[in-house]
Amino acid sequence: MEGKKKIFSGMQPSGSLTLGNYLGALKNWVALQDEYDCYYCVVDMHAITVPKEPKDLRKNTYEVLANYIAAGLDPDKVTLFIQSHVSAHAELSWILNCFSYYGELGRMTQFKDKSKKQDSNAITAGLFTYPVLMAADILLYQADLVPVGEDQRQHLEITRDIAQRFNNRFSETFTVPEPYISTDVAKIMSLQDPESKMSKSDTNENAYILLTDKPDAIRRKFKRSVTDSLGVVNYSDDQPGIKNLINIYSKITNIKPETVASNYEGKGYARLKEDVAEVVVEELKPIQERIDYLLKNKDYLEEVYRMGAGKAEATAIKTLRKVQKKVGFIPR
Ligand code: TYM
Repeated sequence: MEGKKKIFSGMQPSGSLTLGNYLGALKNWVALQDEYDCYYCVVDMHAITVPKEPKDLRKNTYEVLANYIAAGLDPDKVTLFIQSHVSAHAELSWILNCFSYYGELGRMTQFKDKSKKQDSNAITAGLFTYPVLMAADILLYQADLVPVGEDQRQHLEITRDIAQRFNNRFSETFTVPEPYISTDVAKIMSLQDPESKMSKSDTNENAYILLTDKPDAIRRKFKRSVTDSLGVVNYSDDQPGIKNLINIYSKITNIKPETVASNYEGKGYARLKEDVAEVVVEELKPIQERIDYLLKNKDYLEEVYRMGAGKAEATAIKTLRKVQKKVGFIPR
């Protein structure tokens, strides 16, 4: 591992993962696992920033870990762990809270969006300081690169600001991380409203594809996907629904979006929808088989996350101790 650049990334266990999580981030994580020293985390502490049933959180945490492995992450190559198992995340998060500003946190678009959806009396301090915990996640591992989807860009910027602020105040402490965002398919859009991102929190289940959706559901959702009335397949911002279908097809098959568009010239939308559904079904089939297998083998998942927590902790504690010393905490 020595000499390899470091990667950190995570996903919330807020339900089964979507095709957006997979194509926007997870597929890249898998592609990067040989070249980098990777830490991939299930961020259960982030998941409780909005109301969450304990039994669902437990179930979803196992599911996300199973999704990671099923999508191709190899627990012998990368460090897979659960955020709450490494207490350094909470400890560094507190310190960084004291170097983060109310104003900058209030400008986070994700906070603004999420808090709009909550009753104003139910917006927690955790939801507000969410990006600080995310900064702690990343900075603990001195990550060089953070592979995420476009929607996380602003959180990466604040992470960089916090790291630089701390470094300027106390001398070089943190690696300032770079986002790694695929330029081509950085955002998979909702199948029902192609102007907004595909999200598992959408109230309309036709808007998203889950990695665990059965072939029939996948076909049905693509068939019903919202497009436009132009009737001509173009890869253009003027046709966001069609563009999204092409992006999905392209990301899975590795065929350039423009080529996909020209292959469907004059063929109509129904054919494109059917074919996109088929490539998604084929891509997800082996992943679903592995997810089913893994969820029946909880002992194996437990072995993976225990081993991961041990490795993660060993790295994280070094950074935490350095930070505690710099701010003036007396060592035990
Ligand atoms: P989360 O759980 O919302 O999403 C996990 C990852 O999936 C990406 N993603 C998408 N990409 C493209 N199109 C979409 N429709 C789409 N939906 C989701 C997200 O960009 C993300 O990469 N705050 C993070 C979790 C987190 C984290 C971190 C990430 C906590 N700590 C440290 C990186 C580093 C989040 O809520 O992601």
